[in-house]
Amino acid sequence: MDEAAARERMARLREEIAYHDYRYYVLDDPVITDAEYDELVRELQRLEAAFPHLVTPDSPTQRVGGRPLESFVPVRHPVPLLSLANVFSEEELADFARRVEGLLPGETVEWVVEPKYDGLSVALTYEDRVLTRGATRGDGETGEDVTQNLRTIRSLPLRLRPSAPPRLTVRGEVFMPRGAFERLNEERAAAGEPLFANPRNAAAGSVRQLDARVTARRRLDCFVYEILTLEGSEPPRTQAEALELLLEWGFRVNPHRWVFSRIEEVARHCAAWAERRWELPYDVDGMVIKVNSLDQQRRLGATARSPRWAVAYKFPAQQAKTRIRDIIVSVGRTGALTPVAVLEPVEVGGVTVSRASLHNEDYIRAKDVRIGDLVVIQRAGEVIPEVVRVVGEARTGRERPFSLPARCPVCGAEVVRLPGEAVSRCTGVACPAQLREKIRHYASRTAMDIEGLGPALIEQLVARGLVRDAADLYALRREDLVPLERMGEKSADNVLAAIAASKDRPLHRLIYALGIRFVGERGARLLAERFPSLDALRRASDEELLAVPEVGEKTLASIRAFFRQEQTERLLEKLRAAGVRMEEPRAARGGPAAQPLAGLTIVLTGTLRSMTRQEAEAAIAARGGRPSGSVSRRTDYVVVGENPGSKAVRARELGVPVLSEEEFLVLLE
Ligand code: IVH
Repeated sequence: MDEAAARERMARLREEIAYHDYRYYVLDDPVITDAEYDELVRELQRLEAAFPHLVTPDSPTQRVGGRPLESFVPVRHPVPLLSLANVFSEEELADFARRVEGLLPGETVEWVVEPKYDGLSVALTYEDRVLTRGATRGDGETGEDVTQNLRTIRSLPLRLRPSAPPRLTVRGEVFMPRGAFERLNEERAAAGEPLFANPRNAAAGSVRQLDARVTARRRLDCFVYEILTLEGSEPPRTQAEALELLLEWGFRVNPHRWVFSRIEEVARHCAAWAERRWELPYDVDGMVIKVNSLDQQRRLGATARSPRWAVAYKFPAQQAKTRIRDIIVSVGRTGALTPVAVLEPVEVGGVTVSRASLHNEDYIRAKDVRIGDLVVIQRAGEVIPEVVRVVGEARTGRERPFSLPARCPVCGAEVVRLPGEAVSRCTGVACPAQLREKIRHYASRTAMDIEGLGPALIEQLVARGLVRDAADLYALRREDLVPLERMGEKSADNVLAAIAASKDRPLHRLIYALGIRFVGERGARLLAERFPSLDALRRASDEELLAVPEVGEKTLASIRAFFRQEQTERLLEKLRAAGVRMEEPRAARGGPAAQPLAGLTIVLTGTLRSMTRQEAEAAIAARGGRPSGSVSRRTDYVVVGENPGSKAVRARELGVPVLSEEEFLVLLE
């Protein structure tokens, strides 16, 4: 292909890919399969490799680019990014409406209601429809340039659709969906890294990464809700119209938005959503009520900090006050010591809470939490409650400061905290707490899935010295189990059968079950796809390992360290001797018996927790199935992940069987 033809084809491909990104990420209604999409991207990549000088910054291949930054550069916003005044009750909301109507005598006022996303506010600049700058809100006047990081958000257009005005600045909220947040924390827990307290902190931490590659892995999302400046196009007349336009121009706009003419209706609506907020796959901390007419907005103006035309109706926080009776330390699988506050039980949002995480020593220090303190605790979604702050006025002077012990509370081994790490760890090689957690992890549902091997039983097995590593499980006999507490002959047999059944799990489950630091469920799947046996994994070169998606230097070092240990060698030898499967059966690698999905058409919708859309499609195809982008009567299954789109509804209408992620995983196995 000559240069002129390549230039044209590349422009066309960029446009097509941008359109499919829009269908997928913004409208949640893709019209092609991921495989077809990937083919477009690959073609563009091939051309870009052949003609590197024709690569443009708005190319979809350039979302993650550039070198890590040294620091963020301050940028002044084109117009101040104001903040909102809060109201906490229907009366306060009615007062707000009366104030507005008082300033607009004789006029009718319409209200737009939008969810108030609990993320961080950003300003986005588009020149010639191309994203040229993204900045944090900062103090409202000046923020920080985080363009590199915002570019990694897949729902954020790098280039706007042709109908968009050439010059535009908009405001939106970057957030991390709860599913992504939970998965991130699971991965961090598996890696022994400190957890994020809530999705907002995780989103803020991710946007303020100097290395955009880290941000790219964090699965952020962004709703755009305000036009800040606009040139070269007719401005909308109302906020509702502005939202419609933003959607048309290519932005992700929240489908939940309502227009009311009476403030009483607004209040009723907000109260209803206070109950329903957990139905949304992301955190909201209230509703924003805005005057719909942009002309009225302009005439109402703003005070120094916030507009007169809008207000945030805050949902009651899921908070409560209680006293810290004690602080205990739990020891995790990797030896990480986590301080946990033992609370006087208290009800928060309908749940009785008696423990709260204190994360690590720095967290305790920063909040100055002491034993005996009266504290405010908070429940955010399904996350473990956390201590928000100490009620300082309630201090009596008898509170006792806490520091982590120098020796492991369980095995007495030395505790170390490596420079640069927030976590302190027990160094004991035979620490029973670590062992318990390791076995618990090995037997867990997403690892080797040994039913009936619960914490109480594991505790006894470890305490009696019956189990010193996971392989010892396979040597257990009936007479070992029967004398244990709450164990009859029948349940002993059941547990033994479950243990025996676990010998034949797919390789990726074993890899995950071994508990290699930084190798989570997803990582294990990717490794098993690339290396068909544990031996192949052990023998893999650095290059081969680094070629696996999501394996970076840290994971590489951890895999190496794992296989280097004598303990590992002994464990693997014992597992092999016990008959635990250590490779994928030939069938799963492509033999005829590996086609359990032959002839089946399967549609995916929503986000899966354990794999990407691409991986799921590859898994279907590898088993002889056909992944498809749209639901019809001929579809055999629709797999519904989190935040599913219209395809789930369509499946129900057509009577096509719907599978949850768990059911889908069973189907694959
Ligand atoms: S409008 C001048 N709409 O809430 C009005 N803000 O507490 C600008 N926020 O800093 C804000 N969802 O970051 C607006 N639908 C929404 C919002 C929203 C979340 C944030 C925004 C603002 C903060 C004020």
